[in-house]
Amino acid sequence: MTYVMKFDNLDDVYSNIWSSISRGVNDRHSDFHTFSLATSIKDDINNRTVVLRGHNQELGKVIFHTHASSEKIKDISVNPKVECMFYSKKNKTQIRFKGKAIINQNNEVCMKKWSSMSDQSKLCYFQNIDPGLKIIDPKEVNQKLGNELSKDFSIIEVDIEKTDWLYLSHEGHLRAIFINNQKDSGYWVAP
Ligand SMILES: Cc1cc2nc3c(=O)[nH]c(=O)nc-3n(C[C@H](O)[C@H](O)[C@H](O)COP(=O)(O)O)c2cc1C
Repeated sequence: MTYVMKFDNLDDVYSNIWSSISRGVNDRHSDFHTFSLATSIKDDINNRTVVLRGHNQELGKVIFHTHASSEKIKDISVNPKVECMFYSKKNKTQIRFKGKAIINQNNEVCMKKWSSMSDQSKLCYFQNIDPGLKIIDPKEVNQKLGNELSKDFSIIEVDIEKTDWLYLSHEGHLRAIFINNQKDSGYWVAP
């Protein structure tokens, strides 16, 4: 089913952005449940899909989880500038957040989240071989659940600095920009 949406003003656009993101966190069937995370290091760019695990509209943050030894953590440690790109075919909407990533490891933030996670989710953070390392046989990799907070569990918070929203419509595409997630900073740009 295709949704027909009306955006009469920039407040409607801002509301659309955050209701889409909120749905993405809470509904695993939503197109906004995953996004493309781009990192860059020196003259190299890396892009991959991650699951949207949390958001904070007031503080302008989106949150995901990852393994501490992953390539993206290495990238972010050197260059915290990232871009998070969401696209919903159903809603004909693309949302891009440019921002700075903050890494949480082995701290209160991780501990609080860890206590509410399923064993299945925790298992990824008890792997015998770090992600990305060369192996001879995929069977070498195994996971054994531990009792404690895994040191490999990382929560990444992206502080949004620029939002680029695009809505595709046969009546005319719409595009708007917000700075530092401030509702009143919004302006239209040519799509
Ligand atoms: C649908 C989907 C969801 C994924 N979610 C995550 C995630 O939440 N966190 C994560 O670290 N990797 C996730 N991955 C795996 C990443 O895309 C990537 O392959 C992996 O993290 C290694 O990336 P890196 O070497 O660039 O760090 C997901 C992949 C897919 C296809």
